[in-house]
Amino acid sequence: MSFIEFQDVKKIYKMGEVEIPALAGVTFSIEKGEFVVIAGASGAGKSTILNLLGGMDICSSGMILVDGEEVSKMDAKALTTYRRYDIGFVFQFYNLVQNLTAKENVELATQISRNPLNIDETIEAVGLKARANNFPSQLSGGEQQRVAIARALAKNPKLLLCDEPTGALDYKTGKAILKLLQDTCHIHNMTVVVITHNLALCAMGDKVIKVKSGLIDSIEINENPTPVESIEW
Ligand SMILES: Nc1ncnc2c1ncn2[C@@H]1O[C@H](COP(=O)(O)OP(=O)(O)O)[C@@H](O)[C@H]1O
Ligand SMILES: [Mg+2]
Repeated sequence: MSFIEFQDVKKIYKMGEVEIPALAGVTFSIEKGEFVVIAGASGAGKSTILNLLGGMDICSSGMILVDGEEVSKMDAKALTTYRRYDIGFVFQFYNLVQNLTAKENVELATQISRNPLNIDETIEAVGLKARANNFPSQLSGGEQQRVAIARALAKNPKLLLCDEPTGALDYKTGKAILKLLQDTCHIHNMTVVVITHNLALCAMGDKVIKVKSGLIDSIEINENPTPVESIEW
């Protein structure tokens, strides 16, 4: 049994009379400490997979197991606990609290964790020590995304989920953020799932899951993933 099992997962969104099959039967597994890239065109179903993994949405059928727990069977209360304690989420547009400093944003997240990491050490690890007392509006996009990553990491989650985390960043900054995620995964044995629509980035994953029209297109394991700094796109 792998750390994460997704078995024949389907998700159908109902919009009035119309049914939209976002996932049409998706099966994959993820090992603990793996750096996983989920790639595919816009509308393929990538965010739906991540939202189901993160307990932010529930599947229509199939089974989702994370660390021995059946997420697909959880009720609303169990899902809240799961999201709170087990999941770190990084979004494309950072989603920071604007009237809290970088450090306060990280602190806020640790308050809903049972076993948080040290706040100052986490902020230092993402390279933001000098900016800890700045508000989000005083930080660049890349710095704000670092705060968002620190916030997710400081909870010490079982699983770090990132939905297009570099989508709002320029090339160089995006690369630095991806390097931070890849290094975090390998140094701390953290399980990290990163969504991208950029196929060039597949080389950085320990495992690459390609999604097409709500189905798995391919699953590849890279024995020697490329360090982000050596990938050009
Ligand atoms: N909340 C929703 N309600 C209705 N349809 C949705 C919803 N979320 C996603 N979809 C549809 O499901 C499909 C997959 O979406 P998504 O997982 O967001 O794709 P991706 O992240 O790969 O761009 C798309 O056709 C999208 O329009
Ligand atoms: Mg998406």
